[in-house]
Amino acid sequence: MAQRKPMVAGNWKMNGSLELVSELAEVITKIDTSDVDILVFPPFPLVKSALDAGLKAGAQTVSENNAGAFTGEVDAQLIHALGANYTLVGHSERRAIYGESNETVAAKFAKAQENNLTPILCVGESEQEREQELTEQVVWQQIDAIISKLGVDALANSVIAYEPVWAIGTGKTASPEQAQAVHKFIRSKLAELNSELAAKIQLLYGGSVNENNSEQLFAQPDIDGGLIGGASLKANSFATICNSA
Ligand code: G3P
Repeated sequence: MAQRKPMVAGNWKMNGSLELVSELAEVITKIDTSDVDILVFPPFPLVKSALDAGLKAGAQTVSENNAGAFTGEVDAQLIHALGANYTLVGHSERRAIYGESNETVAAKFAKAQENNLTPILCVGESEQEREQELTEQVVWQQIDAIISKLGVDALANSVIAYEPVWAIGTGKTASPEQAQAVHKFIRSKLAELNSELAAKIQLLYGGSVNENNSEQLFAQPDIDGGLIGGASLKANSFATICNSA
């Protein structure tokens, strides 16, 4: 049985401050991370401050392009040069608000790895897609976009975060059983292509995780931790979630 290290990552989205960096660092840097990887994904202007405060900080997204005339974009090479080792790619808000297609997400995934960043690939279905029983089809299409571009082995140096869109920011957390079912599906589909990779890859759940439900979710056999939004902005809540992994 592959031993997978639990991971808890906080996605601050477009929230936070230098004060929050200090508050979180004060609490999170005291946690023993020998048994859990703890990451934070602050808005870009706070990434360096978070790293300097001792937090493992990463980017919420990176450009699929190399440095050049791409005003407003974020260069993966510069994020790595700051000292960051991870980036989110394909968060549902990037897909819904900024129109990122599966192909664009795959290109960002590739650029992240080219620049020694480990991508956390975010996947998940909408409420309508779940109601239409399309969850597995949608999630696998999002993962298969990476496989089609880079081959399945590229996923070995990545993390996958299953975030049902209907659970993000809504307080409607997927039940442990619902989340486990999708995680088991992802791991079993990957096992058809590369059994060692499937056993080793960390699969995170995201979508209204809080200090009251994290332990039950993380106890599921194919859930290796969480990608936390709102609760990651509260130092004590985030610490409780990290300690429950
Ligand atoms: O990336 C994590 C985020 O989408 C989940 O947000 O507020 O539902 O924990 P939240």
